[in-house]
Amino acid sequence: MARLTWHGHSTFTLETDQGQLIMFDPYLDENPKSDIRVQDVDHLDYILVSHGHFDHFQDAIPLAKKTGAMLVSTSEIVSFCQEQGLENVHPLHIGGGKRFPFGYAKMTPALHGGQVHGDTEGAYTTMPGGWWLDMDGKRLYYSGDTALLTDMQLLKGKVDLALLPIGDNFTMGPEDAARAVEFIEPKVVIPIHYSTWEPIEQDPNEFREMVGGRAEVMILDPGDSYNF
Ligand code: NI
Ligand code: MN
Repeated sequence: MARLTWHGHSTFTLETDQGQLIMFDPYLDENPKSDIRVQDVDHLDYILVSHGHFDHFQDAIPLAKKTGAMLVSTSEIVSFCQEQGLENVHPLHIGGGKRFPFGYAKMTPALHGGQVHGDTEGAYTTMPGGWWLDMDGKRLYYSGDTALLTDMQLLKGKVDLALLPIGDNFTMGPEDAARAVEFIEPKVVIPIHYSTWEPIEQDPNEFREMVGGRAEVMILDPGDSYNF
């Protein structure tokens, strides 16, 4: 059984069947909805970063330094992290994947901004991405911050669990995310990236109604886990 724990916004921890701990888009200390802080995290094996915005990347370097976890992201973000003194890193790029001990992880396209938090010169601006993971046949898709993309149709039949933003304003809103569910046809979808702040306030139950019978919508509170 793999266990996914949501920490509010787009931050979640995945504990694999084999017990590896993977954190996605760490945003804890300044995340008003997070159930944990950096100081609470003692062990991570991998940190996967979809893009460089503060609300996805702010705590990635501190956590990687604290835990020794391998940080995996686009080559530009990885280069920025190396410049900040991080050594345990692996660069990927959109459309590329790699087999890690926890499974296969591939970066998927996202349509969004590419600035890297902390990169004051703009030298490491990157293509934002998302993640598709295949862990012994358990397939997870986390779109990252993105607009609705027709490319998502390529994932049809290849996703068991999808994590999609529904906040609107900076990413897909509920209607476009429901359309993404139509494209992808996941078994289960978890809405994320909403109600962290006022501009992305949403009622996830409205998203659930829009999805209807096309997928099971799991609405989590920060700190809640979902086993799959
Ligand atoms: Ni963003
Ligand atoms: Mn964001």
